[in-house]
Amino acid sequence: MLKIGVLASGRGSNFQAVMDAIKDGRIKNAAIALLVTDKPDAYAIERARANAIPFVYLAPRDYPTKDAYFEKIARELAERGVGLVLLAGFMRIVRRPLLDAFPWKVMNIHPALLPSFPGLHGQRQAADYGVKISGCTVHFVDEGMDTGPIIIQAAVPVRHDDTEESLSERILEHEHRIYPEAVRLFAEGRLEVQGKKVVIKGFRSDEAALVNPPLENFYLS
Ligand code: GAR
Repeated sequence: MLKIGVLASGRGSNFQAVMDAIKDGRIKNAAIALLVTDKPDAYAIERARANAIPFVYLAPRDYPTKDAYFEKIARELAERGVGLVLLAGFMRIVRRPLLDAFPWKVMNIHPALLPSFPGLHGQRQAADYGVKISGCTVHFVDEGMDTGPIIIQAAVPVRHDDTEESLSERILEHEHRIYPEAVRLFAEGRLEVQGKKVVIKGFRSDEAALVNPPLENFYLS
């Protein structure tokens, strides 16, 4: 049984998506063992309560250094036998003590097609830039900001009149699909990090390309 620890700072809809996938059997032999939050009023706490999942609020200011804070988080997770850590809208850069305790066992979801638009407001950056396709990425976490090996991505067409809000909403739907899928692949032992690449065992990509605007609709009559 894979025990999962979730780190969240806010709404927690990705946390919910993973819980739902465990509940409905898409992810087998896994359970969420702990939610850690850095915000006492994170809505993710309500979701943990509603699903009888233990949670702990850890205030960064109670620790002398950032490393000490992440050491504490690592201890909390290790005490509960966690084998996979999910950042789900956790708005801090993870430090070495947590990464060392869980080598290639910390995942993050980011609302853009990395390596484009890392950091905050990935959706706003994409909408402002004028890209025609953005999306979301699940990746293993390394010391950089949104730089670790990529596990799965979903491409989402961008509309010329998209705002940060409208694009975020459409991307979020796909976040909720790909995060549970990445967890499933991990739980099934199918992810292997080779340098910068994640090899997925038993999988060959042969889907058609997404083109936006779609070729056949390019000329409106
Ligand atoms: C999600 O859109 C996630 O991709 C993003 O924060 C949101 C959290 O929503 N994360 C980042 O921007 C990390 N750089 P949620 O709390 O409802 O899962």
